[in-house]
Amino acid sequence: MHIVRSIDEMQQWSANERNLGKTIGFVPTMGALHNGHSELFGRSVLEHDRTVVSIFVNALQFNNSADLEAYPRQLEKDIVIAEETNVDALFVPSHDEMYPPNFSSTISAGDIAAHMEGLHRPGHFDGVATVVVKLLNAVSPDAAYFGIKDFQQVAVIRQVVRDLNIACQIVSVPTVREADGLALSSRNVRLTSEDRQEAVQIYRLLRELATLSLETPTSSADIKKAFITRLESSSNGIVEYVEVVDSQNLRPTITATTDSTICVAVWFGDVRLIDNISIDSSPS
Ligand code: PAJ
Repeated sequence: MHIVRSIDEMQQWSANERNLGKTIGFVPTMGALHNGHSELFGRSVLEHDRTVVSIFVNALQFNNSADLEAYPRQLEKDIVIAEETNVDALFVPSHDEMYPPNFSSTISAGDIAAHMEGLHRPGHFDGVATVVVKLLNAVSPDAAYFGIKDFQQVAVIRQVVRDLNIACQIVSVPTVREADGLALSSRNVRLTSEDRQEAVQIYRLLRELATLSLETPTSSADIKKAFITRLESSSNGIVEYVEVVDSQNLRPTITATTDSTICVAVWFGDVRLIDNISIDSSPS
């Protein structure tokens, strides 16, 4: 596996592969890799001749400096994981390589980023959009892979790629979960053992509420109320938001239907977890 540290070298590597007629799949990450990331790598490896993974903890998308500081970093371990999943090139630019002192242009993510994560993490999606476009320009992939775990992020990226005419297919991949249902996340390692146990309530409740909405049309207001009351009475979790949105355009819906997705953010101590469920997925 090639380890690439500069944008120039990354562009040259990709141009060379392209000249050889190879297709390139790309998975951007912030490292602290887990099986959710590996799932994306595996999809890309299956569907492309070459797979590039980037590891870059993007300061621009952290609205909270404590969260940036606390973000887990484990490059040596990540290199082994990427190698084991047959990644061909690992792009690990430094902060200065991506954002040199004279850097000044950023992307504004627009309306799709105005609620949920965008509302609670001001500037987050502008940072995500900016770094993803920079990474796509460094790697020039045929396709880039994103997890549905970050439901709004996929929608923002699709919008940006469409708006800016970026010739890259965006592929979304279902959420990988622990056996007890907790969505894998780089932040899970920061949960206390008690909070880790209680965090299973997030997906348990999402499944219950999705099943309820499938059986009986339920108002979004009732879903929100039920999620908050039940989560906060059965765990130490504090709900930051729960929204029921149209799965395609992410606009809030009045009633939860098979076209809706329930999205939540929950704090356990100083760890913020997000998850979502599409109501038409058959919760099991
Ligand atoms: P990161 O949180 O490292 O996630 C990288 C990719 O892995 C994202 O597309 C995310 O949705 C996906 N992912 C995370 N947990 C997953 C899970 N349990 N199952 C499936 N996929 C999962 O998301 C980012 O980094 C950054 O915002 C980034 C896009 C790299 C831009 O900086």
